Amino acid sequence: MIVLKALSKSFTRETAALADINLTIKTGEVFGIVGESGAGKSTLLHLLNLLSPPTKGEILLDGVDPWQLTEQERRQLRQKIGTIFQTPHLLANRTVLENIALPLKLQGRKDSAKVNELLNFVGLGDKGRAYPRQLSGGQQQRVAIARALVTEPAMILCDEPTSALDERTTLEILTLLKQAQTTFQPTIVFVSHELTAVKYLCQNAAILAAGKLQEVTPVRQRAIVTDTNYTQQVLARLQA
Ligand SMILES: Nc1ncnc2c1ncn2[C@@H]1O[C@H](COP(=O)(O)OP(=O)(O)O)[C@@H](O)[C@H]1O
Ligand SMILES: [Mg+2]
Repeated sequence: MIVLKALSKSFTRETAALADINLTIKTGEVFGIVGESGAGKSTLLHLLNLLSPPTKGEILLDGVDPWQLTEQERRQLRQKIGTIFQTPHLLANRTVLENIALPLKLQGRKDSAKVNELLNFVGLGDKGRAYPRQLSGGQQQRVAIARALVTEPAMILCDEPTSALDERTTLEILTLLKQAQTTFQPTIVFVSHELTAVKYLCQNAAILAAGKLQEVTPVRQRAIVTDTNYTQQVLARLQA
């Protein structure tokens, strides 16, 4: 369970990017964070990713305050956190397999069975030796998802992971995230301003505005319906 208690974060003296956030995220749920640009969504993920301490308040991960731990203990805790961003941030001069294996390598580990399992899980079984530039944007994001899953994280932080993708690819990536959740059961914190995506994936969501938590609400989940015929779908929308 993730508990945030009176959490604040200021980057400058004058303004707080986040102020007095109280929030509980249950283990294994997909929790949405919704808000307009500048609301503090990425700052919240930055804190959950343990990249820097809060200015005030506490983060508790399963009852543990990571900022009371030694740096080494905190680093071990961070190994249980995966991140997926709007852009995949793949290493251009490494193959798909090497990119997926990177978090393990950084931990001094090697597990080619796991890397291959994830390559197949994200549907890129035939692309292991390809380089990122040879993949489409959606395929690159699949690699980023495999890379985030390879360490079997307890928590996955997603920062607008589909905001740079077209609708069909968005649905593919969201479907994959849902499968990842069912298969590996991590807690997922899903930041997005796309409400269809949040409604598809999240059980509960928080609304942020100007660094403050406005509401926490259950989400009535809804499937995303896309017309299989792209041209007809665009025509219908343009003419509606
Ligand atoms: N590293 C930083 N240094 C200074 N200000 C920052 C930094 N990161 C975020 N901010 C500020 O914090 C506020 C919230 O930003 P952010 O969390 O990125 O919002 P969102 O992801 O919701 O668009 C903004 O006013 C932004 O300018
Ligand atoms: Mg952001």
